Amino acid sequence: MHCDDLGPASLGLFSEEDLQQPAHIQVLGPQSRVLRGFALPWVEHLLPQLERVLEQAPFRHMVTPGGFSMSVGLSSCGQLGWTTDPSGYRYSPVDPQSSRPWPAMPEVFRQLAQAAADAAGFTGFSPDSCLINCYRPGAKMSLHQDKNERDYRAPIVSLSLGLPAIFLFGGQQRSDKSQRVPLLHGDVVVWGGVDRLRFHGVMPIKEGTHALLGQQRINLTFRQAGAGQEFERKTRSAGQRPND
Ligand code: SIN
Ligand code: FE2
Repeated sequence: MHCDDLGPASLGLFSEEDLQQPAHIQVLGPQSRVLRGFALPWVEHLLPQLERVLEQAPFRHMVTPGGFSMSVGLSSCGQLGWTTDPSGYRYSPVDPQSSRPWPAMPEVFRQLAQAAADAAGFTGFSPDSCLINCYRPGAKMSLHQDKNERDYRAPIVSLSLGLPAIFLFGGQQRSDKSQRVPLLHGDVVVWGGVDRLRFHGVMPIKEGTHALLGQQRINLTFRQAGAGQEFERKTRSAGQRPND
């Protein structure tokens, strides 16, 4: 046997689908991808906008319905922001801390999210919500599904900035084994379609200092939470919600 035959393909380490992707795209599932370094060219435009959003809606530690304070600091921008308090999880058009609308989603955020969705095979993504998660060393996110959106046709687009993380990407059941996916500054994960409701989470962030962001990891999660106008029209005329 020639040593070339001992490549990862012949050893069965990668699926056929994996091998058809460019090297910077990692396949996590049939409709989930990691786009390695995808956001790097956008970062210098993103960070000043992120700062402006956070001046208007600073990070805060929200409380879960179970009564625990989250280790991750949260903020949002866009028409809808994801919130949690003792009475439940929900999307709200206003920041509960200021009682004002969430800051508008900067155009560069929307463009990046749309470009990443396109690159992962989801055309026409139009996020109305960007959840901003701040992880200090030790902070983590338990396994969960993103289920508070009005319908599940649009993908989730998730950008990592700052300190590295181990992203856990599980299956449709909480008990399914999770893949451990290292995520670095500038990586974008996109999951949708048949993978839309897969469990996911983040392991505790390790101590470290990132050259641009210091001792933190910031994650931007873009979602179509309230659905677009076309969708609104359709459901209104049908007189029902899609999940009913
Ligand atoms: C989330 O699922 O809300 C956050 C995921 C991440 O921080 O990478
Ligand atoms: Fe999530």
